[in-house]
Amino acid sequence: MTTASSPLVFTPSANIAQLRESATIAASARAKALKAQGKPIIDLGVGEPDFDTPLFIRDAAKLALDQGATRYTATEGILPLREQVARHANRLRAPHLPPVMANEVVVGAGTKQALFNACFALFGPGDDVLIPVPAWTSYFEMVALARANPVSVMGRRADNLLVDADQLAKAATERTTGLMLNSPCNPTAAVYDRARFTEILQLAHERGWWVISDEIYRRLAYDFPAASAFEVAPSRERLVVVDGVAKSYAMTGWRIGWAIAPRPVAHAMASFQSHTTSNPATVSQHAAVAALARDDEAEPAIAAMVTEFRKRRDACLAILADGNAPPVVHPAVAFYLFLDVAGAADGPDGAGMAFAARLLEEQHVATVGGAAFGAPDWLRMSTAAPLADVTEGLRRIIALWRAGRAGQ
Ligand SMILES: Cc1ncc(COP(=O)(O)O)c(C=O)c1O
Repeated sequence: MTTASSPLVFTPSANIAQLRESATIAASARAKALKAQGKPIIDLGVGEPDFDTPLFIRDAAKLALDQGATRYTATEGILPLREQVARHANRLRAPHLPPVMANEVVVGAGTKQALFNACFALFGPGDDVLIPVPAWTSYFEMVALARANPVSVMGRRADNLLVDADQLAKAATERTTGLMLNSPCNPTAAVYDRARFTEILQLAHERGWWVISDEIYRRLAYDFPAASAFEVAPSRERLVVVDGVAKSYAMTGWRIGWAIAPRPVAHAMASFQSHTTSNPATVSQHAAVAALARDDEAEPAIAAMVTEFRKRRDACLAILADGNAPPVVHPAVAFYLFLDVAGAADGPDGAGMAFAARLLEEQHVATVGGAAFGAPDWLRMSTAAPLADVTEGLRRIIALWRAGRAGQ
């Protein structure tokens, strides 16, 4: 029995014993706590658009609530939403691929759940899963929670930290069964061009690997349209494409994402979800239908966000062009900058974490250290904040970087 004098000693189960808290969420919680203490924090740690969900989507949700969208739905999501997801996928799909059907779509509580469902359904003990690095922090944990082995493949510095098919082929073993792709990439904001994306998917096809392609930032590219796996994959047989409304439609809090997978995989993911969360929030599904169905209203809203993010990106690149500033991966997509802070700070989790900690405590700027993404020398800053905050935050980063380098 636990009493006030004998606090509970909790040993996590083997399921989560190795689990680390999401570093991006932890960084954001720390910034929020400092803000609550009255500190003037510039928050460049967040990974969500600083825009409101477009009004037509909010209105659709209100209407749906008034019309009774308050009950459970099918686990895999309401049919109109799955049809819209399929419609969008089919607009991208290369002619040699079979059409995407609504019964190949499973809607979850965010892209995060869709990714977790896919990892759990596809991977297990003994499987190696290749993860091009830097990578979104949750991929490593999701693969490990599925009791498979995440294998990091580091992108080349001279190549915007992207990997190529040769590197993946070299990293593969006979145990390799899967590949997690994320183009455009969080944290680097780099994008695989069509040729390289095609080569990578061709290699995966030849080797019989499952590919999970997380395309959540695809609509937010600045310079050239980011390709979807549906445009370049040789086959859909072992392909799971994951996307959601969070980033493109400024709908992070609504928690709607989906996986598009061959029918037996979709069925397995839905069965799994039926025992975890059941359907994602009903009202959010209706909001997502409006977002996906009403192109005439959604497209200008997306374009306006991308224009604003591009303005901030360009302002940052102008500041960084000064010369005496940290190297940056060319940001081809909203809304991250990935900066090399090697030599400007030092700590057990690498330069990036040490730099981020100093930056927050001394300069009141929240960012995320690169170790969270498998790249310890780097720092991720977000541009999802007002222009003045973004440029001021970057100036403080540069000042600390210069001081750190001078002090080494
Ligand atoms: C690469 C990547 N995938 C998935 C997600 C999760 O998105 P959602 O909010 O739809 O769960 C994020 C969120 O930051 C992300 O950066």
